[in-house]
Amino acid sequence: MLDATARLAVDPADPGVMQVILERAIDMFDKADAGFIAVREGADEVLRTVACSEQYLPHVMDLRWPPGEGGPGLVYQARRPLLWSAPEQVEAAIETVNPGDRAAIRSVASLLPPAQSVICAPLTARGEVIGAIQLDHRGQTAPFTEWELGVLAQMASNAMAMALDNSILFTELRAQRSQTQELLRRIIAAQEDERVRVARELHDVIAQTMTALLGGLRVLRRAAEGAPELEHLDEYLSQVDREVRAAMEATSDLASALRPAILDDLGLARAIEWQAQRAVRSTGVAVELDFSSDWLDRLPGQAAIMVFRIVQEALSNVVRHSGARQVRVEAGDGDRGRYLRITDDGVGLPAGGSLEAPDAVGLRGMRERAEVAGGELAIRAGADGGAEVLLTMAGPGLTGNEGTAAQRAGEKRTGPSLVIGRSGFSGEVGVNPW
Ligand SMILES: Nc1ncnc2c1ncn2[C@@H]1O[C@H](COP(=O)(O)OP(=O)(O)OP(=O)(O)O)[C@@H](O)[C@H]1O
Ligand SMILES: [Mg+2]
Repeated sequence: MLDATARLAVDPADPGVMQVILERAIDMFDKADAGFIAVREGADEVLRTVACSEQYLPHVMDLRWPPGEGGPGLVYQARRPLLWSAPEQVEAAIETVNPGDRAAIRSVASLLPPAQSVICAPLTARGEVIGAIQLDHRGQTAPFTEWELGVLAQMASNAMAMALDNSILFTELRAQRSQTQELLRRIIAAQEDERVRVARELHDVIAQTMTALLGGLRVLRRAAEGAPELEHLDEYLSQVDREVRAAMEATSDLASALRPAILDDLGLARAIEWQAQRAVRSTGVAVELDFSSDWLDRLPGQAAIMVFRIVQEALSNVVRHSGARQVRVEAGDGDRGRYLRITDDGVGLPAGGSLEAPDAVGLRGMRERAEVAGGELAIRAGADGGAEVLLTMAGPGLTGNEGTAAQRAGEKRTGPSLVIGRSGFSGEVGVNPW
């Protein structure tokens, strides 16, 4: 554990923490003009400078301090704070640590000018000295005092304890978050697989069985036509025929809601067009689509599904909650990356942050899917009233090499810019998803 904490403290990925500690320490003392922090680099106990004041850049940053050498090396070895303002004090300090070590005396003494006075305190992490912080006074005014040395020592141990605790907590949080993300990714992937399976089953088994049923009904009706004693059956058979057809349509709707084949076959942009058509069908909401970039169709397969689900939920919310007359779906490349925006002119989100509501499963699901796709989602009031769902994708989407069928076929299309009116679509949409 100690090793782990020591490593965390010197983690070069986190140099900012040491720099902040140093700057705070320099700010605490009027006399401190400059300083640096060195920490243990590994098992060999050589300290390495990890933070220093600007005027010491760059050479102090390159310095290494073996135990007993220089201010940090000496303090590291002595395991206690040291102060010196004149060569004699250096000598006295070294005598207490390494009696008769002339080389050490020379190495520390040579560091005094331009510093007139130096205080150096051990950095302690969970009882173990892992480095040292040195502050230099370069002016001609009164040198550092023992009292100031004590304050620095106290500050160094408190600051380090806090920095380490924070850093450990942060690392743990990061690990937990990435585990949660991974779990979420798997759950969502499993859910999508299941949807594909059920949709296929509905199509391959149920729909085929119903087609066969229709065929059987046709034969029966023909047989009934030729037999006057079965005439009364005809009306009954046509009724069954209508019911089977209605069930087939419902099955088809259900299967395509579960996983529209259009998404895999023609790509995300077309699937969104199709979804918009379905969502507003017979609701009286006008949908406007404006895709000024083809990034939607360049998303890898899994991310494309996530984005599709987001649009699906956003449109369903517009229809169910907004009372909007118009909804707009835009995709483009902005200054801050790719974006997809769904805005409506409805009543707007309820006050008090709908995302925090325990039953806001739909909204939270959208946000989680956005994260899985490698993007970020904002759900907020629209600029002109109504609600806005904004998905931004700064980096590359979810890694995956499957892509859509459209991508596989090398098909390149720029997105549509069309209006789906209250009386239906205008534009080349309405592709059969089956
Ligand atoms: N476009 C919108 N306009 C107005 N209110 C909205 C809009 N989208 C969401 N809301 C509000 O946010 C709430 C939470 O939305 P969310 O999608 O999480 O849940 P839901 O749609 O009520 O249920 P479901 O879990 O089936 O999605 C909604 O109940 C509604 O009050
Ligand atoms: Mg919803």
